[in-house]
Amino acid sequence: MTPRIFMLSFKIFTFCLLISVSAVAQQKQSAEMGKSRLEFWLDSNGKPIYTLSWNGRPVILESGLGMKLKEDSTLNTGFELLATENKSVDENWQTVWGEKKTIRNHYKQLTVHLHQKSSPGVYLDLVFRVFEEGMGFRYSFPKQKALSYFIVTEEQTQFHLAGDHRTFWIPGDYDSNEYPYTVSPISGIDNKEVVEKSTEIAVRDAPDRYAVQTPLMMKTSDGLYINIHEAALVNYPAMQLHADKSSLTLTSALVPDAYGNKAYLHAPFSSPWRTIIVSDKAADILDSKLILNLNEPSKTSNTSWIKPMKFVGIWWEMQTGKSGWNYSDFADSVNSKGQLIPNGRHGANNTNVKRHIDFAAKNGIKGVLVEGWNVGWEDWFGKWKEDVFDFVTPYPDYDVKMLTQYAKSKGVELIMHNETSGSATNYERRLDTAFRFMNKYGYHSVKTGYVGRIIPRGEHHDGQWMVNHYERVAQKALQYKVTIDVHEPMRPTGLQRTYPNWLASEAARGNEFNAFSIGNAPSHETILPFTRLMGGPMDYTPGIFKIKGYSTIPDRQVHTTLAKQLALYVTIYSPVQMAADLIENYEEHPDAFQFIRDVAIDWDDTKILEAEPGEFVTIARKARDSESWFAGAITNENGRTARLVLGFLPKGKKYKATIYADAADADWKSNPMAYRITTQTVTAETELSIQLAPGGGAAVSFVPIK
Ligand code: NOJ
Ligand code: CA
Repeated sequence: MTPRIFMLSFKIFTFCLLISVSAVAQQKQSAEMGKSRLEFWLDSNGKPIYTLSWNGRPVILESGLGMKLKEDSTLNTGFELLATENKSVDENWQTVWGEKKTIRNHYKQLTVHLHQKSSPGVYLDLVFRVFEEGMGFRYSFPKQKALSYFIVTEEQTQFHLAGDHRTFWIPGDYDSNEYPYTVSPISGIDNKEVVEKSTEIAVRDAPDRYAVQTPLMMKTSDGLYINIHEAALVNYPAMQLHADKSSLTLTSALVPDAYGNKAYLHAPFSSPWRTIIVSDKAADILDSKLILNLNEPSKTSNTSWIKPMKFVGIWWEMQTGKSGWNYSDFADSVNSKGQLIPNGRHGANNTNVKRHIDFAAKNGIKGVLVEGWNVGWEDWFGKWKEDVFDFVTPYPDYDVKMLTQYAKSKGVELIMHNETSGSATNYERRLDTAFRFMNKYGYHSVKTGYVGRIIPRGEHHDGQWMVNHYERVAQKALQYKVTIDVHEPMRPTGLQRTYPNWLASEAARGNEFNAFSIGNAPSHETILPFTRLMGGPMDYTPGIFKIKGYSTIPDRQVHTTLAKQLALYVTIYSPVQMAADLIENYEEHPDAFQFIRDVAIDWDDTKILEAEPGEFVTIARKARDSESWFAGAITNENGRTARLVLGFLPKGKKYKATIYADAADADWKSNPMAYRITTQTVTAETELSIQLAPGGGAAVSFVPIK
């Protein structure tokens, strides 16, 4: 297929240098782009070594590259350098949706062609792409006689750090990314306690207490920001990092399968890219598009049906215990006719769904998510059952035909919910049937979920088998013109560029944890952009207005102010954003709800105005194909003043700014729902100073004055 993504401008300079072995064997190879400099060489044992520096400062000290295979544990030494190739690329490409309309892809590429001298004489290419803000590199196995089918048992990519950096991490768990963040030096990494304590996480499996998840965010003592992750994770397990505290070296640790193997491959094969993003400005880390640039263009040019959207849903009422997903209390509570006996607490009933459709229609919100609409919820979770849901049979009080027609008549769409409870085999068997059902009833999008232990039993959420499963679902969805929002998958690596119908993933600790656990610390949302969000959009489900006071969960609360919940629509990027609270809570605050009605979900441009991981984030974005701008500013547990320099507005134009801010006495804990809304006329010359409460935030809309 011809990719829809077309080049706005395309400049490419390619030049190849083929150099003979004798001349280059011990010579350092290098590639530079702006302040980033990569060096590569083979040491005296023929071991591949690389370093990365940025503006003359060491980022990665001498670090080894290599792999262990099932049949060959030596794929890390004994190499000779056959040849090198260089190329430069400078191009622009257009996003289907995103934080920016146009993205520049500007890099220098160095490929080293290696050959192992001893039998069987494996050929391995290492491909380095050096960008202004860091680099990506991958292992590439050409088609060859010496290596055809092979099993990776270890990847031995090292990241030897130049200091004991401050690190923002979650445990390297094979099955969950839903942990709270810990901030510690590299030498303080030990996930045992946090894994043991996090009993609210359904499945935990983190055997290496010194392993952490990526994207890993670090800050050096002299103010350099370093982010390590991966791009284009396809047909390979997710990479975690094992921290060796004495040498301050991180080593790739791949998620295993049931046999302890990591990846089953067939050459030719290229691994995902290992990415290192660097800057002395935290804002530049958030601005980087390096990960997207390392992903393949869209698989389809037919993307006009893919639409970002806001949605409401029958969801927070389950999280807070007002209603349930299940129609009956137990799977075996059936009457003499074998029918389930209703428990009277089923949220996905016709009346409630219609109420949500009406509310969405009235407020210009496109989607309505309904969870718990289909049979199976009585024993969906924790039993490790293979056959739980069939994805097509509604409960008796959910009339799918009537409801989809009702939604259509109001210009609203229902969003399908396919919880798999981790039974990926069951979902794959029924996928065509499930998507045909969606097509028949006019559902264009699905939220999937993988709560529970994975089936095939012994596989992990982040292993190669599941990575392939999530991609198969994305491919199948593309075929049926369905967009997907995946809960509990492996964390994103920029694949949304390749599959633009993969609008969002969860893969982190969402707002929901505030309802059923100790919750998310006020710093949580200031860390997410530097970690999980580096790989792609998150369905965080912002917009909770009733911060506390739920009779069903009296000791729980959201750990932000109400105004910060508004700011999250801008600071947490996603092309699907839920207005997650209950209708009745929105109806109590129509003035604050106006921001959710107004805020855009697709953008022409994004400006990171201020940012510091764990502390604060202020972002402004220009709505796609519109002159309006929106801004969000958030802080951690400390109050502070957000400074918004409005130089991004077009010169000489007046805008009406509506500022949704914390009230003077607001505080996430003691007074979270106190906000005030003001308006003022602003121009590109204006600087706004907005007071943020402890755990607070502010949201601003900028509408041009005609
Ligand atoms: C976990 C998801 O993250 C949540 O959003 C969903 O409501 C439940 N699973 C049930 O599927
Ligand atoms: Ca979840």
